Amino acid sequence: MTAPSAQIRLAVPADAAALGRVHVRAWQAAYRGIMPDAFLDGLDPDERGDRWARGLATTRPESSRLVVCIDPQDDPVGFALVGPVRDGGANGSELGELYAINLDPNVWGRGLGQRLLLAATAELSRLGFPAAVLWVATGNSRARRFYEAAGWAADGMERTDDSFGPPIDEVRYRRLLP
Ligand SMILES: CC(C)(COP(=O)(O)OP(=O)(O)OC[C@H]1O[C@@H](n2cnc3c(N)ncnc32)[C@H](O)[C@@H]1OP(=O)(O)O)[C@@H](O)C(=O)NCCC(=O)NCCS
Repeated sequence: MTAPSAQIRLAVPADAAALGRVHVRAWQAAYRGIMPDAFLDGLDPDERGDRWARGLATTRPESSRLVVCIDPQDDPVGFALVGPVRDGGANGSELGELYAINLDPNVWGRGLGQRLLLAATAELSRLGFPAAVLWVATGNSRARRFYEAAGWAADGMERTDDSFGPPIDEVRYRRLLP
């Protein structure tokens, strides 16, 4: 599982179980101290995998893409999901959004995150969005550093998101797409 041999491709239904594992492991590492321990410890990789399986079995709108980062055995070690902005109002169609990016903590700090982010923003460009936004937990300093290193910047929007369960304070980042 080394960084140079990792590849990035669009997700396929057979990726679902591995995506569930990556999702839970990334959250349990990144949100410790930000979300309650009981919530994080209760996350179930199989249940998450089933959700990914249902999502991947449904025809995805042309305007959204799920990209995965895979190890030499073709197992996903990370994923990023992009598409049109979810709360865009009247001008929403002009903005893309990075809905999620997660890497297995085993492969953090090797530059894979930046490769995955580059692939995700390339998909947003390919979909025709001139700019994109993302929401990041205010206290997720690793992710904020990661985005800032890639040219994203806070645009002044803030919210409290309770769609995952426990409420999380978030800030919005934005960048122009190449
Ligand atoms: C956000 C996330 C995808 C970033 O991945 P990452 O591995 O931390 O980031 P990178 O792959 O770019 O690695 C960057 C770090 O590796 C180092 N690095 C080592 N080798 C490297 C290489 N060949 N190329 C680039 N960076 C390298 C960098 O110096 C940098 O160190 P720093 O964080 O101390 O500045 C990952 O931390 C993650 O999945 N977090 C959990 C989920 C999450 O928070 N998602 C965001 C929600 S909004």
